[in-house]
Amino acid sequence: MKNKIVYVGLSADILHKGHINILKTASTYGDVIVGLLTDKAIASYKNIPFLDYEKRKVVIENIKYVKKVIPQTKLDYVENLNLIKPHYVVHGDDWKHGVQKKTRKRVIKVLKKWSGKLIEPKYTKNISSTSIKKQINNILSLTQNRVSRLKRLIKSKDIVRILESHNSLTGIIIDKINVVKNKKKVEFDGMWSSSLTDSATKGLPDNSSLSFSARISSLNDIMDVTTKPLVFDADNGGQIEHLPFLVRSLERSGVSAIIMEDKVGLKKNSLFKNQSDTKQDKPQLFAKKIKKICGSRRSQDFMVIARIESFIVGKGLKDALNRAEIYSKAGADAILIHSKEKTPAEIFSFAKEFRKSKNFIPLVSVPSTYSKVYEKDLIKNGFKLVIYANQLLRSAYPAMQNTAKTILKNRRAFEADKKIIPIKEIINLIKND
Ligand code: SPV
Ligand code: MG
Repeated sequence: MKNKIVYVGLSADILHKGHINILKTASTYGDVIVGLLTDKAIASYKNIPFLDYEKRKVVIENIKYVKKVIPQTKLDYVENLNLIKPHYVVHGDDWKHGVQKKTRKRVIKVLKKWSGKLIEPKYTKNISSTSIKKQINNILSLTQNRVSRLKRLIKSKDIVRILESHNSLTGIIIDKINVVKNKKKVEFDGMWSSSLTDSATKGLPDNSSLSFSARISSLNDIMDVTTKPLVFDADNGGQIEHLPFLVRSLERSGVSAIIMEDKVGLKKNSLFKNQSDTKQDKPQLFAKKIKKICGSRRSQDFMVIARIESFIVGKGLKDALNRAEIYSKAGADAILIHSKEKTPAEIFSFAKEFRKSKNFIPLVSVPSTYSKVYEKDLIKNGFKLVIYANQLLRSAYPAMQNTAKTILKNRRAFEADKKIIPIKEIINLIKND
């Protein structure tokens, strides 16, 4: 008689004895097929895995209890179960609660169609995957791993969410903060080093008077205390001849991407209403800068993102599309299509056309003026990266101004205490471990 088929869905990022227990138990029921969750499937409900699909597959298919490994492309099992019609599904009983509760119910329902059974061995306790994860997080923040992480995130997530960081403390907020929504943990995927907020923090206008070396020096402070990838706003990149040195410094610091805008002349922030003295670079000249970066980066994972300013300077869709084609062919890994309109209409019309091109590359949005846009609509329109470019500085500044005014008005600090965190909290904010 043919062996019975047993299906086990696994992420298997950090393999521990709990997994082995499950697979061993499963193998006593028949031939074990592992549905290994793809990076995308995992990213749909938690962080992307430390190891990518292929690396995890090699490990799992070499475990003696496993007959075969197939991809499971969703958290939901139903598609694979309908395909294989296993006699048994084996899963630890921990999924009776938490994010996978619904998935479990659907498994039970679909198994009924061919009288399949769900076997739920007791969850193996006392596995400190948290401490393992902490150690791995340290490894992840090592330079090369951090550089590559952004590309992996773009491949596996619907949208990569980046928030502006202008000093170490804001970096720590981005690294740690999360909210739980619909039982899913939502967090930021990385940091944006903004020329605007870096300059403002140093009391300077956003006109490149703050040097790259000064910016990289404070960026290194951020990198020292964080683990997530960082995207660097390089204005127009400066002189083409200097670009290789800038890229070398950024890569050495562990930066994942450089964003360079196609403007020339004295830098002016793109959100200024009057852009009459702003000049856009010739597309072919800007393409040379992109090529220069591609030729000088050491890691292919270090991304070059070309920022198109056509809408900012009042040129139309046609100009923007023409530039996107040229920049993509020059080797850009993604396009930031910038806009200072109140709605995303113009960037969506750009996306609609550019998606038809064989040179299409992922799109980046900076919703500062069109801040009503939801991430789900950016996703629908083909955007892969969203950069919240200045909100942390914009929230800190009025809070600090208010405190300063309150002390002045009252000639004492007591009234300000109500609106600020207790000293104890600030002492404990940074743990000494
Ligand atoms: C920045 O944050 O510095 C940017 C985005 O470049 S914008 O301010 O919109 O130009
Ligand atoms: Mg900028």
